[in-house]
Amino acid sequence: METTSSQSAPTIEQDVDLRHCNSFGLPARARRLVRIRSEADLRWVVNHPDWGRASKFILGGGSNLVFTRDLQPLVLKVEVPGLRLIDAGDAWIVEAGAGERWHELVMWTLEQGAPGLENMALIPGTVGAAPVQNIGAYGVELKDRFDSLDTLDLMSGRVVRLDREACHFGYRDSVFKQHLAGRSVILRVRLRLPKAWQPELGYLDLQKAQEAAGVKEPDARQIADWVIAIRRAKLPDPAQFGNAGSFFKNPIVSEAQCREVIAREPGIVHYPLPDGRCKLAAGWLIDACGWKGKSVGGAGVYEKQALVLVNRGDARGAEVITLAQAIQASVLARFGVVLEAEPVVV
Ligand code: EPU
Repeated sequence: METTSSQSAPTIEQDVDLRHCNSFGLPARARRLVRIRSEADLRWVVNHPDWGRASKFILGGGSNLVFTRDLQPLVLKVEVPGLRLIDAGDAWIVEAGAGERWHELVMWTLEQGAPGLENMALIPGTVGAAPVQNIGAYGVELKDRFDSLDTLDLMSGRVVRLDREACHFGYRDSVFKQHLAGRSVILRVRLRLPKAWQPELGYLDLQKAQEAAGVKEPDARQIADWVIAIRRAKLPDPAQFGNAGSFFKNPIVSEAQCREVIAREPGIVHYPLPDGRCKLAAGWLIDACGWKGKSVGGAGVYEKQALVLVNRGDARGAEVITLAQAIQASVLARFGVVLEAEPVVV
């Protein structure tokens, strides 16, 4: 480990093991890594005579990544802390540092009496990573509760505030996966939680939980508890089996293709979209191809949810990718549908 001369400057760590910095638990090392705990830390890197120009890799909670090799660029490990609740009249504005854990933010807002994030409880990863792929669950996406964020542009060194429109949120997508990928570091995120709270109970699994509990008017805390229970039953705990959540996006197909697929496979789980297109359940497609429980080396398809790939202990990134490609090929051959991976492959 090497320390820089200035006392306030962050430390550049060398040859860092990244196995515990990615929720898949895949082996990889960073040649150099610097922990970013404040805007000043990031400015120090950007203005540094050597590091300023070096190529960089931005790492958050590592919950949506597949490492297939060691990282040569300087890794910026974003650990900016801070939670703040601001009274904005008809809404609460929650401002959170990019390094905070998303689930802890959700629980903290509920404790503060600011509901609205409960459907997104237990999503792994950090606050700064949440807008990158517009996380979502049980009928609510980050974009539905988004106010703005502050990001530092690694080229210009300027901090810019981006609103919802500027982030170009899509289904598991945003400007940070597109033209700002790798060049913009999110420092803090602001969420807007209207005080006139409305529960979101449209999702089938939540309706079932509500019926089973016999609760007519659940509060946000109750909904968070249901979401947590549903996720625990369906999704593997990364502490037990490394994983990156859903490995594939639910594919969106045209009306004509949807009709054609349903005619061939009447049992297919699908959700009509307002524009006439149709979202197909990737988990169902993969399950129908018989993948549940199958493995390539240490990488496997989770037994309880075919949409999730897991590390059974000693998986390597290349095995995860080989398995993912075999799944994509079989879904394409049987249904004519292209599955797109959700995590970023490095
Ligand atoms: N299904 C099967 N077999 C399987 C898996 C699923 O038949 O092995 C069927 C289910 O029975 C269900 C349908 O496929 O009818 C959809 O499955 P599920 O509800 O489990 O998953 P999903 O709704 O497609 C999405 C998100 C999740 C999010 C949940 C809840 C994507 C890619 N995944 O899953 O997000 O938690 O909805 O809103 O959009 C994530 O992105 O990491 C993630 C976990």
